[in-house]
Amino acid sequence: MIIIKLLITIIILIKYISAQDYTNEECYPINILLNKEKSNNCCNDEGITCSNGHITKIFLNTLIDSYLPPELGNLTNLKFLYIYGGKLIGSIPPELGNLSDLEYLYIKGKKIYGLIPPEFGNLSNLRELYLSGNHLTGSIPPSLKYLSKLTQLNLDNNYLNSTIPPELGNLINLERLDISNNTINGSIPSELGNLKNLKSLEINANKINGVIPPELGRLSNLKFIELSENNLEGYIPPELGNLAQLELLELSRNNLTGPIPPEIGRLSKLKYLYLSNNNLNGSIPKEIKKLNLKNLDISNNPLLKTKNKNNKLLIIIVGIFFITIFITIILTYIKSKKKFSKENENKNRNIIFL
Ligand SMILES: *[C@@H]1O[C@H](CO)[C@@H](O)[C@H](O)[C@H]1NC(C)=O
Ligand SMILES: *[C@@H]1O[C@H](CO)[C@@H](O)[C@H](O)[C@H]1NC(C)=O
Ligand SMILES: *[C@@H]1O[C@H](CO)[C@@H](O)[C@H](O)[C@H]1NC(C)=O
Ligand SMILES: *[C@@H]1O[C@H](CO)[C@@H](O)[C@H](O)[C@H]1NC(C)=O
Ligand SMILES: *[C@@H]1O[C@H](CO)[C@@H](O)[C@H](O)[C@H]1NC(C)=O
Ligand SMILES: *[C@@H]1O[C@H](CO)[C@@H](O)[C@H](O)[C@H]1NC(C)=O
Ligand SMILES: *[C@@H]1O[C@H](CO)[C@@H](O)[C@H](O)[C@H]1NC(C)=O
Ligand SMILES: *[C@@H]1O[C@H](CO)[C@@H](O)[C@H](O)[C@H]1NC(C)=O
Repeated sequence: MIIIKLLITIIILIKYISAQDYTNEECYPINILLNKEKSNNCCNDEGITCSNGHITKIFLNTLIDSYLPPELGNLTNLKFLYIYGGKLIGSIPPELGNLSDLEYLYIKGKKIYGLIPPEFGNLSNLRELYLSGNHLTGSIPPSLKYLSKLTQLNLDNNYLNSTIPPELGNLINLERLDISNNTINGSIPSELGNLKNLKSLEINANKINGVIPPELGRLSNLKFIELSENNLEGYIPPELGNLAQLELLELSRNNLTGPIPPEIGRLSKLKYLYLSNNNLNGSIPKEIKKLNLKNLDISNNPLLKTKNKNNKLLIIIVGIFFITIFITIILTYIKSKKKFSKENENKNRNIIFL
């Protein structure tokens, strides 16, 4: 009797505990991604972290050849979401915009297409966003301006085909903006000059036109500027000479005109200067020659006077050559004259002695 009573109590307890277990419901989208049964408690699976019965971290390399389940947007305690899927296809569910605790978001699939959901602007705790190397099209949603904690925005290697929203200038904590290798057109908004924590600005390989905004000269923490392979025109702004931390300046393959500003020579930390394939003119400022560059490429600027340096060197070498010859001749002449007069003196002495 006692044993039966105990068994019944245990069964009731187990039922009670399992009823209390929220994770089963939260596991629904995870079990889809893991290709497991609905009843699987995913908290025991590799890559899934749960806390107090809620999923807080997902770090998954999924093998399903399917879509991202919209139910992921129900995991309101999720802080970290990393999904890499070599077979994953489909679009990004806008429901992910409901993950108000999310701090880190990385999605890369075999073919993730469609738009970046404007609902991502609701992820007010997001610090890092990586959607690189997908097939995303359309625009960078202006609503991303609400992500005030964002430090990393990586949307490179997609097919984004709109303009850079000036609203991105609101992301004052941003340290890296990488939107390279898309088909983004329009100009670089001067508002990007407000991103005072920016260390790396990568916009290369797009269809950006217009001028380089002088406001970029205000980004005092900037180390890397990559704007090559666009349709930028106009002058290189001398204000770039204010970027005291700059190590890399890459402006090649554009349609930039005018001179190389001597102010670039103030960038004492600059190691790489790439200005090839533009329409720059004038000559290379002597201030730049003094820099301790590891690499300098100024090739294919038809109007740029690069031979100047060699000419000067040649003039100096030829000059030294002729001066040496001249001095030698003079010295030889003086010597021979001295010898002659000495000989004469001796002769005279001899005469006297005689
Ligand atoms: C989970 O998400 C789906 C689709 O996004 C929604 O229809 C459903 O109501 C959500 N469930 C809960 C318990 O929030
Ligand atoms: C989640 O997001 C979807 C689409 O963005 C929205 O329709 C839905 O109301 C949201 N659900 C919750 C519980 O906030
Ligand atoms: C989420 O974002 C969408 C689109 O940006 C917006 O319409 C909606 O009101 C937002 N929802 C919340 C809860 O902030
Ligand atoms: C961007 O690309 C998509 C998909 O190819 C296309 O439907 C859309 O019209 C394009 N938008 C612009 C502004 O070119
Ligand atoms: C640019 O992006 C496309 C699409 O993601 C990719 O196939 C290509 O290799 C990328 N090019 C470079 C130079 O990274
Ligand atoms: C960008 O390209 C699209 C499609 O070619 C065009 O409609 C739009 O006017 C362009 N925008 C700018 C600012 O150049
Ligand atoms: C470069 O700009 C000049 C005007 O400054 C223009 O005539 C020329 O067509 C442009 N070249 C390219 C390849 O855009
Ligand atoms: C360089 O080109 C600009 C126009 O692109 C012109 O105004 C300037 O006179 C040129 N300077 C030299 C030294 O050729």
